[in-house]
Amino acid sequence: MEEVLNLDILSIILAAGKGTRMKSEIPKVLHPLGGKSMLKHVFNEVASMNTEIVTVVGYKAEKVKNSIENGKIKWVKQKEQLGTGHAVLQAEKYIKAHKGPVLVLYGDTPLLTQKTLTKMIDYFKTNKAGAAVLTAFLDNPSGYGRIIRNKDEYINKIVEESDATSEEKNIKEINTGVYCFDSDLLAQGLDSLECNNAQGEYYLTDVIEYINQKEKGVIPVPVEDNREIIGINTRKDLAEAEKIYRKKINEIHLNNGVTIIDPDTTFIDGDVEIGQDTIIYPFTCIEGDTRIGKNTVIGPRCRLVNSVIGEKVELKSSCNIWNTTIKNKCEIGPFAYIRPGTILEEGVKVGDFVELKKAKIDKNTKVPHLSYVGDAEIGKNTNIGAGTVFANYDGKKKHQTKVGDSVFIGSNTTLIAPLEVGDRGKTGAGAVVTKDVSNDTTVIGVPARVYKNKQEE
Ligand code: UD1
Ligand code: CA
Repeated sequence: MEEVLNLDILSIILAAGKGTRMKSEIPKVLHPLGGKSMLKHVFNEVASMNTEIVTVVGYKAEKVKNSIENGKIKWVKQKEQLGTGHAVLQAEKYIKAHKGPVLVLYGDTPLLTQKTLTKMIDYFKTNKAGAAVLTAFLDNPSGYGRIIRNKDEYINKIVEESDATSEEKNIKEINTGVYCFDSDLLAQGLDSLECNNAQGEYYLTDVIEYINQKEKGVIPVPVEDNREIIGINTRKDLAEAEKIYRKKINEIHLNNGVTIIDPDTTFIDGDVEIGQDTIIYPFTCIEGDTRIGKNTVIGPRCRLVNSVIGEKVELKSSCNIWNTTIKNKCEIGPFAYIRPGTILEEGVKVGDFVELKKAKIDKNTKVPHLSYVGDAEIGKNTNIGAGTVFANYDGKKKHQTKVGDSVFIGSNTTLIAPLEVGDRGKTGAGAVVTKDVSNDTTVIGVPARVYKNKQEE
């Protein structure tokens, strides 16, 4: 994102509400959208403008604070949620110490962009206004505060839906909840707030009416794209915003030269990177911090979380991959389950119904069918036969298994960890291996015994 310096601006993000209409134990602003919390979305856009940031927290304050690791944020607590005006008042000390524009926005408007914020601040400055309000014209304005303009097209006041007359309810221009205030006028306006309204709250929107009565007016700044300003109050709003966000992300990848066969059924989180000419089949979710190289084919029905996938990799249908690194030219699936801590070097093949956990597998090794490989290191050019189980757990502890290069593990072998199988070792079908196997040695049976040792022949 483009960095613009706006050090003269103080930003206040309101995030103290519980979000009753979400019907959730989780504070509203922590609900994720496209893999990141709503608050993180808002924070990222504001932080990219390099402003001083104060965030007002209240409901489950510690949880909200801990959700963002950033020394830049100053947190203030609103003990009781008495309304948006009361929330801003908690940051009074910062407002009074600041001379210049104060940006106020709500943590539940996750699709807002830095571009829109910058534009509003610019309008505020060039018009030398007392305040600017980001507004939107909606066919269905219900749920939002309505903008009452005066004959000079400045904003007279904002009326909440619950306080609006039926005539006011017909107004299509709404308050998005994003404002830029003159710091002095904001401080004065907050001091004048009362809570004689339908909800018995201190409304930030009443500061607008206060400023309008001063010599500096309040200007409306209509947003260019209405999709940006959706305020999330319910799960339905969240689902709607999610759809818009996903579409936007998919479009970025399409523009970058990624083929997404069906963008409507492909779900990619905001921070994912995908190389050119990679093809994504439908019903695939790519989440978190995942990076995918060029010319890779993924899906259908794959889920990738926090993983690094190389170039020319083939992830066949229905693979589930978590916190894993897969290097170039690997072939995975269908139906592979790859769990955290796994690293697959170039050219590894992992076939159907294979589960890997903390497995480090070197170049060109194959685990083609029906195996469990946990807590293991496997060398290069090795073949793990169908049905092999790395028995890593003795009921109390997990143990490691090490398998060398060019090993041949026969079908249905059980490798009882801790265990080492040397280079070019072999196991017979159905062997239960309880003791280490030296280089060039074949073991068979239950428990496995030495059958042949090439070095001794
Ligand atoms: C608010 C606006 C409304 C606007 C809409 C846009 C007011 C009075 N109304 O209404 O004009 O159209 O947003 O989405 O401002 N919050 C606190 N402390 C509180 C109350 C709220 O921090 O005491 C925070 C909430 O966590 C939330 C945000 O402020 O992130 C907005 O609060 P919410 O109750 O959703 O306001 P709306 O009724 O939607
Ligand atoms: Ca709201």
